Amino acid sequence: MLVEDGAVALDDPVGGSLRGAHAHLARRLGRAAAYLQEVATFSAVSADPDAAEWGDLARLLGRGELADLFSSPATPPPDWEPVFVLDGLQMLWPGGAGLGDPRDRAGGVAEPGADVAELGADVVELGADVVPEMLDLVARTRPGPFWPRTREMGTYLGIRENGRLVAMAGERLRPPGWTEISAVCTAPEARGRGHAARLVRALAARIEARGERPFLHVAEQNTGAIALYERLGFEVRKRVTFRGFRTP
Ligand SMILES: CC(C)(COP(=O)(O)OP(=O)(O)OC[C@H]1O[C@@H](n2cnc3c(N)ncnc32)[C@H](O)[C@@H]1OP(=O)(O)O)[C@@H](O)C(=O)NCCC(=O)NCCS
Repeated sequence: MLVEDGAVALDDPVGGSLRGAHAHLARRLGRAAAYLQEVATFSAVSADPDAAEWGDLARLLGRGELADLFSSPATPPPDWEPVFVLDGLQMLWPGGAGLGDPRDRAGGVAEPGADVAELGADVVELGADVVPEMLDLVARTRPGPFWPRTREMGTYLGIRENGRLVAMAGERLRPPGWTEISAVCTAPEARGRGHAARLVRALAARIEARGERPFLHVAEQNTGAIALYERLGFEVRKRVTFRGFRTP
């Protein structure tokens, strides 16, 4: 089912984030904007950019750099070399009763370093000191783009087994009224135990508690993840095409 509910902020989630909640993580030149290096490679241009705006984005990023236009439909000039094209889905939580099984809707998430057993949850917030472990988990599971400072875009939650980080998920884009759930991944040896489901529910509960709604993006070929998100109650809003180019 395709959901169309007038959620226009989700048509330009990168631009909306860079102008709003993530202004402190943005570089800008004219109408072009991009995340700081190491936070994300996502760039934003207006809906119908002219040559001057493409020039501004090229100057902002530098020569031969990746311009990840995310799901923007704008096509850069011919001297921008295509790097990747990937079909995907934008899914959103329709709102209302909360996500999935209420038994593990983890409202109480442990603060970094807290005694999780005491809180009755194995979900912990991941601090800056955990970034090397997060990068290692991403390298082993490939959930999508994640860089050394991506964690600064929102709250990242994780689950440990025998002290080792085996699952995580976090908040990424934040267009007005929405928060994207991203970097959902579980180490191969820890899959099928409900870790990803529990982390997504915990994030969604936090997002809804501050009056926002969760959404996410997933590659169309990632049928396992799509099945998981649908089971949790997410619905497809629209198809998107992720596109990256190399600046001239
Ligand atoms: C997708 C992923 C995060 C699931 O992690 P997980 O911790 O094993 O997920 P859960 O245990 O919470 O699974 C929840 C449900 O989804 C199902 N599921 C999980 N992965 C699945 C797959 N690859 N194919 C079909 N179903 C799957 C589980 O069977 C489970 O169903 P159930 O609740 O009916 O038993 C994990 O496979 C992964 O890290 N994949 C690589 C990274 C990735 O693609 N991330 C998503 C980016 S959008």
